[in-house]
Amino acid sequence: MQVFGVDVGGSGVKGAPVDLESGALAAKRLRIPTPQPSAPYAVTSAIAEIVRSHGWSGPVGVTIPGVVRAGVVETAANIDDGWIGVDAAAMLSDRLEMPVTVLNDADAAGLAEARYGAAAGVGGVVILLTFGTGIGSAYLHDGRLIPNTELGHLIFNGQKAERYAAGRLVKRGELEIDWWATRVDGLLAYIEELFWPDLFVFGGGISKRFETYSHHFTTRARIVPAVLRNQAGIVGAAFAASMRSDT
Ligand code: BGC
Repeated sequence: MQVFGVDVGGSGVKGAPVDLESGALAAKRLRIPTPQPSAPYAVTSAIAEIVRSHGWSGPVGVTIPGVVRAGVVETAANIDDGWIGVDAAAMLSDRLEMPVTVLNDADAAGLAEARYGAAAGVGGVVILLTFGTGIGSAYLHDGRLIPNTELGHLIFNGQKAERYAAGRLVKRGELEIDWWATRVDGLLAYIEELFWPDLFVFGGGISKRFETYSHHFTTRARIVPAVLRNQAGIVGAAFAASMRSDT
């Protein structure tokens, strides 16, 4: 079975049909730069273009970098404020004339890693963190997602964790990678004190270089890099859409 997945990020909107047996993309991924400002109407048009250019008709899953409850976007730290309060699931289903499921981007990545990737078959508590523009989190227990944990918004060392230790600080040259990894280790220790996970999955663009800085990590729990990399959002969105009872 295939379902279409779309990942809405700060810099790009990416989508492809996903083969749900294997978790692999069933066709080439299409990417459109995220419209600026990233207001709902413009982003919706980009999503529609990606879905249509694949000639897709059927269920679609979409990620948003904010809290999403029952299809409604509740926060927008790294996307236009115009999304707050929008029933994105209803709006997109209307526009695409297809059933659309909407969920948080890190939650989608967590679902994808738990089903097909670094946390496949892992029981107990798994916390996936994505280090990019912000810090996203997914909390899973025995493979079941507890959505919208937003650990990037914890206050750590007097500021929001995602200001203190986001991957973008390295990308923009504001922080040398070893200093950044030391900061991340402090944050991981704090999260570990609160949640006692059995496994951390380390995601986001910077996870590609995991081996170059992972020696700084001192967590009790095992910590592994995400394996689905920049496809995790697309795959997790499609997987979430496939779990809906009415699709
Ligand atoms: C948002 C989260 C999102 C994360 C990564 C944070 O600023 O609040 O919802 O998962 O960025 O995009």
